[in-house]
Amino acid sequence: MERKVLLAPSLLAADPLNVAGSIAKLENNYDWFHLDIMDGHFVKNLSFGPEHAKALRKAYPDAFIDAHLMTDNLNVVLPLFINSGADLVTVHAEVEPQMLHATLSNIKKAGLKVGVSLCPATPVANIEHVIDIVDLVLIMSVTPGFGGQKFIENSLKKVRELVSLREVNKLDYLIEIDGGVNENNAARIALAGVDVLVAGSSVFDSENPAQWLKNVRANIKEAIENLGRA
Ligand code: DX5
Ligand code: ZN
Repeated sequence: MERKVLLAPSLLAADPLNVAGSIAKLENNYDWFHLDIMDGHFVKNLSFGPEHAKALRKAYPDAFIDAHLMTDNLNVVLPLFINSGADLVTVHAEVEPQMLHATLSNIKKAGLKVGVSLCPATPVANIEHVIDIVDLVLIMSVTPGFGGQKFIENSLKKVRELVSLREVNKLDYLIEIDGGVNENNAARIALAGVDVLVAGSSVFDSENPAQWLKNVRANIKEAIENLGRA
């Protein structure tokens, strides 16, 4: 079966005064929109909120909106995203870990796809009790909060761990990586077993974001084909 690797531009790196203009530059070469929600508490930055998800849903009715909640206070924040138009809501495993299973179950019950995310310091072991109920596991490959940081190579160990856990347990969650992905390392990261590549600054700061996406897609295809031949 052909492996499909999805490309999810992170709108954190879009022009804050003209997000639609930045999206237009992608010329429909994206698979998902990655929308970072930050609260100035769980991470040291602020970004988008539910109104942005709603506006995206309205302007791009067919788009898949991948909301990455880097927030505490899920009792308040989650209800804001339930009917926001987001297709998938990911919460961090570090937030109220004792409630994680219940939190993820509630997101599912609300009819959304659900993801769980790990900061670089958090081991995969911390989410083993929920991998059977999630649609996606998001591995942060930089310190969450800011775009433009360098990819942490050790993140790939977690990807490999998740690939083997998925196989052993016959599960089907997607593995997403977020942070420090660029044109040079994307194919190598995909080969480690990543299904969804998030990329912010590298895409939107490039001269031609549509071409960036086409190049990365071609590089990944070639890398996977070469692996098949090896
Ligand atoms: C960081 C965010 C990322 C960010 C990635 O906390 O979760 O989605 O936009 O940015 P780059 O691709 O620039 O590392
Ligand atoms: Zn993110």
